[in-house]
Amino acid sequence: MADSFSLNDALSGSGNPNPQGWPGAWGNQPGAGAGGYPGASYPGAYPGQAPPGAYPGQAPPGAYPSPAAPGAYPGPTAPGAYPGPTAPGAYPGQPSAPGAYPSAPGAVPYGNTAGPLTVPYDLPLPGGVMPRMLITILGTVKPDANRFALDFKRGNDVAFHFNPRFRENNSRVIVCNTKVDNSWGKEERQAAFPFQSGQPFKIQVLVELDHFKVAVNDAHLLQYNHRMRNLKEINKLGISGDINLTSATHAMI
Ligand code: GAL
Repeated sequence: MADSFSLNDALSGSGNPNPQGWPGAWGNQPGAGAGGYPGASYPGAYPGQAPPGAYPGQAPPGAYPSPAAPGAYPGPTAPGAYPGPTAPGAYPGQPSAPGAYPSAPGAVPYGNTAGPLTVPYDLPLPGGVMPRMLITILGTVKPDANRFALDFKRGNDVAFHFNPRFRENNSRVIVCNTKVDNSWGKEERQAAFPFQSGQPFKIQVLVELDHFKVAVNDAHLLQYNHRMRNLKEINKLGISGDINLTSATHAMI
């Protein structure tokens, strides 16, 4: 089910009780398919300043750390660094939004920021996932894309399958699910669809105690309640499908 708040809510900075007590973090919301967001707005959902000209295309100081190539994504000591800051106009269709998730001072992500990466791609998550772990994926949807997927895996099982489908019965939908012993469970479907064929995107997955929380291009999209409870065993993220992948990283916030 689509979220009921607007981006203005996300940027307004008013009314969130911040029940988790995180600096500027999101409040609790129901999962995908679980209805609206009573009492929850997104004040400063993603605090942080947007450095000019960040990903994609141009690389200003402070856009993303750990560059492999000179001039690609500047280093971790730059001000305004990862996670979250997004340049004004960096993502088409999105107004300039504050950074997606609160950043821990000095937080440095693990994973490959060099890009482009070969798809399918596996991002190791050593020790599994845990609350306050933030996974960030930067890429571009291929023209004429059919589907792509993120799969948080425990061995062959999939704890969290996040699967944007660009043409399912002539419409676009995000399907989330869990696979245990080769059987898919009950799908949770999300009609809000922030991806565009041919366009760059940023996906942020924040692990929380009870759910994965997903933001795209700095706007909250959905959350997915944990069905696999042993988070420590979810130690790989598979990225597959019709995208070009620029980077895949994780960090604690
Ligand atoms: C199936 C599809 C899988 C996965 C699953 C999710 O129909 O073949 O790749 O997306 O749905 O429920």
